[in-house]
Amino acid sequence: MTDSVQSSKSEIMLELKDVHSYYGKIHALKGLSFTVGRGEIIALIGGNGAGKTTTLRTVSMLKAPKLGEVIFKGRSINNVPPHEMVKLGMAHVPEGRRIFPRLSVRENLEIGAFTIKDRNTIEKRIQQGFEIFPRLKERQSQLGGTLSGGEQQMLAFARALMVDPELILLDEPSMGLSPLFVETIFDNIVSLNKAGKTILLVEQNALMALGIADRGYVLQTGEIVLKGSGEQLKNDESVRKKYLGED
Ligand SMILES: Nc1ncnc2c1ncn2[C@@H]1O[C@H](COP(=O)(O)OP(=O)(O)OP(=O)(O)O)[C@@H](O)[C@H]1O
Ligand SMILES: [Mg+2]
Repeated sequence: MTDSVQSSKSEIMLELKDVHSYYGKIHALKGLSFTVGRGEIIALIGGNGAGKTTTLRTVSMLKAPKLGEVIFKGRSINNVPPHEMVKLGMAHVPEGRRIFPRLSVRENLEIGAFTIKDRNTIEKRIQQGFEIFPRLKERQSQLGGTLSGGEQQMLAFARALMVDPELILLDEPSMGLSPLFVETIFDNIVSLNKAGKTILLVEQNALMALGIADRGYVLQTGEIVLKGSGEQLKNDESVRKKYLGED
């Protein structure tokens, strides 16, 4: 499937070309092609097991594609190891709580800055993270494992920001958050985007994700079945029925 809906912004930052991915015999991604323009928020929505997480893991090369190509800022990254991705300007906030439970909040953030040598830059980024998530500042000495689910989610997000990435991959950032925190997280995503970050957002909360997205793609069993502007998809009858819980 080729991508006829081009990004609304001129420069393509990320492009997937006919990407296939497998877990053993399970064909998880079946020829995925899509683009993310610099400065866009792109929402990837779809039901459980549709392949959203696999798509993000493929983009960050945690799981290199079996077939097809991932192009980031004009070059194929198929053979780039995942830990190199940060240096290229991509940060992945994974699904669930992937923080270090036995390290403090501050130490978790410092680890996120593993590619940065300059102490002042690290400290500056930590303070920026605290500005975005004041809750983390209050709890900077607390062990990661003792944070609430929502706080761990914030920590994972703040940790990804430590490297000042150009592209942020977010896997269900609202998962497990109370409605108030969900609002806050979405506000933060919009602010980061306004500050120049490009965002690829996977969300179960389709309505909110499409509400902030420039464009979106609907995934179903490893294929893109629908694409359009955030507005178009939000108002699409089939999307509303399937993913927004309307009958
Ligand atoms: N480690 C794995 N081993 C085997 N199969 C896997 C593995 N991870 C994912 N899969 C399968 O690949 C398919 C896509 O899974 P994926 O986690 O990408 O879906 P998802 O859209 O993120 O779902 P959810 O909304 O539940 O998070 C599913 O059929 C899933 O069972
Ligand atoms: Mg998932």
